[in-house]
Amino acid sequence: MNKHISTLTLDHAGLGIPPGRYALPGEPAARLHAQAAGLDPDQFAEHLREHYTGRRPVADLTPVEFTFLRDELQEQVDDRRQQALDYFGTHVPRRFAHAEPDAPARDWAARVVAAPHDTQSLLLVGPVGVGKTHYGYSVLRAVAETGSAIKWQAYTAANLYAALRPRDDRRADSDYESIAHSPLLFVDDLGAAKLTEWAEEVTYRLINDRYERCLPSIFTTNVLPGQLGATVGDRVASRIAEMCERTALKGTDRRKKVSK
Ligand SMILES: Nc1ncnc2c1ncn2[C@@H]1O[C@H](COP(=O)(O)OP(=O)(O)OP(=O)(O)O)[C@@H](O)[C@H]1O
Ligand SMILES: [Mg+2]
Repeated sequence: MNKHISTLTLDHAGLGIPPGRYALPGEPAARLHAQAAGLDPDQFAEHLREHYTGRRPVADLTPVEFTFLRDELQEQVDDRRQQALDYFGTHVPRRFAHAEPDAPARDWAARVVAAPHDTQSLLLVGPVGVGKTHYGYSVLRAVAETGSAIKWQAYTAANLYAALRPRDDRRADSDYESIAHSPLLFVDDLGAAKLTEWAEEVTYRLINDRYERCLPSIFTTNVLPGQLGATVGDRVASRIAEMCERTALKGTDRRKKVSK
């Protein structure tokens, strides 16, 4: 058996695990398991090998083979989930560390993990204080909870511009690329202020890079969709409209409620 398999050769949905690369249970472990269960080790290992090479669907594994494979892979999912939640815990601002995802947030997370290039980005729109940032981080928590190893980065737009400001060092390009090509990017507070010509150009470059690569993003803004072009430029607004499914967050400023 190979040590690793590609994303194409396991029936992730059939096994109930998120897509990704997994270390296969080694042949000795499979044989031992078969022996302990009083089964033929050769046939047991062969059935698993056939599944890895796409010749035996999950439905044609015996219950013991299925359970063995699923449990071995599930252990890796559990490890990744723990790592992803640890990453979430150390990279999320304290205020949003306990943001709990709702059903639509979990649904988007499941879709983005299963098919990152075919999932529309998220545009969270709403007035000041309704919970856009909170919601954005709750979606990232939902992604972590799937146990997927998808990497994400989060910036407020203001911090993004600070990170990408023109400078004369060799790392500037790789810093830009690490953000622009991040498998999942959260940009909070897009269009909060009218952009300078430089910021508009950087925003265009970044959004266009992600647009062309079909990379999923989460954006928040308190600018109404029809007015986004006026703050971030029409080329950016047009791409965001095509890339994103929109979630309107309604309600009052939660900060005022807190201070009452
Ligand atoms: N669903 C929620 N449950 C509990 N607290 C929430 C929820 N959503 C937001 N909050 C809290 O309400 C406050 C405002 O939320 P948040 O900062 O996400 O708003 P926002 O829409 O991003 O505001 P702004 O437009 O000013 O950036 C925060 O203290 C946040 O923790
Ligand atoms: Mg916010």
